[in-house]
Amino acid sequence: MPQMHLCSVRALVPLGEGEKRGFFSLLLEGCGLPDWTPGQFVMLRPESWSRELPWARPFSIGRWDGNGLEIFFQVVGRGTSLLAGLRPGESVRIFGPLGQGFAREENKPVLLLAGGMGIAPFAGYIPRRAGAPNLRLCFGHRAPLACYPYAALAGNCLSEHFPDERPGDLPSFLRRMEELLAGNAREEGLVLACGPVPFLRAVRDLSLKHGARTQISLENRMACGLGVCLGCVVKPLMDDKGRNRSRQPVPPALEQGLPVPVCSCGPVFWADAVELDA
Ligand SMILES: Cc1cc2nc3c(=O)[nH]c(=O)nc-3n(C[C@H](O)[C@H](O)[C@H](O)COP(=O)(O)OP(=O)(O)OC[C@H]3O[C@@H](n4cnc5c(N)ncnc54)[C@H](O)[C@@H]3O)c2cc1C
Ligand code: FES
Repeated sequence: MPQMHLCSVRALVPLGEGEKRGFFSLLLEGCGLPDWTPGQFVMLRPESWSRELPWARPFSIGRWDGNGLEIFFQVVGRGTSLLAGLRPGESVRIFGPLGQGFAREENKPVLLLAGGMGIAPFAGYIPRRAGAPNLRLCFGHRAPLACYPYAALAGNCLSEHFPDERPGDLPSFLRRMEELLAGNAREEGLVLACGPVPFLRAVRDLSLKHGARTQISLENRMACGLGVCLGCVVKPLMDDKGRNRSRQPVPPALEQGLPVPVCSCGPVFWADAVELDA
């Protein structure tokens, strides 16, 4: 059950080259110890935010254990800029864990595909299967590798990363993703992906091409986080007979061709079940 937790900042650690790059790990303490599934998220709002910023912001759970809750974030706007100025001891309200996390199929080969800060939910996923021989991470990134929690994860699974700093590097990431995804599909494994929409669209198209079983995690803008305001809906992906395209079980509303809130029915969906609008 999601709950409201009043936590305090234990540490805010800049990742990469100091604070310059705008990537951080935020560690909160006093947040209780709930059951959660990797891929779930929290709505987070510091007590110090004024009424000009009424809405909490959603962040993937990177870790939530006896030592506290850790999230990884990148500064993109007003809320995340203010988060980057938090000091130890400041109070932060979080609501969670929320949404539906990733499938966990222990005996199947699992391929994790991450683009940029889309690596954040895998910080929660990989340690739960640490050392599993059939777990592989393929990571594409624009900022230097140290801006992401990659190094801590890479030792716990087969891993490779593709910097997108030089023109022409992205196709090599896409080529490798296709190779790995096709291999995973042949072994009837599971692919999990998180990152920006163009990246997810590429993953979805490759999954349809190779028949891979793929889940994607969406990062639509959110306000309530509870399925009430309908500000975060996603449309179903239908076939020409008016049925949902997915070969996997999907929420009844998606089956019936209706849009659903990402916050409560997702953020994780089967890649062939939802539309990724341009
Ligand atoms: C389920 C979920 C999990 C997330 N997990 C993480 C995470 O672990 N780490 C992390 O850094 N970010 C994560 N995000 C994205 C994060 O919520 C946004 O970056 C944040 O809300 C932006 O707030 P802001 O006030 O700084 O930006 P705003 O000032 O509100 O917006 C600034 C710019 O960012 C864009 N933007 C805002 N929200 C999003 C979004 N959700 N996706 C894409 N662009 C957006 C706006 O269009 C605008 O251009 C997650 C989002 C969701 C829905
Ligand atoms: S954020 Fe309100 S319905 Fe999803």
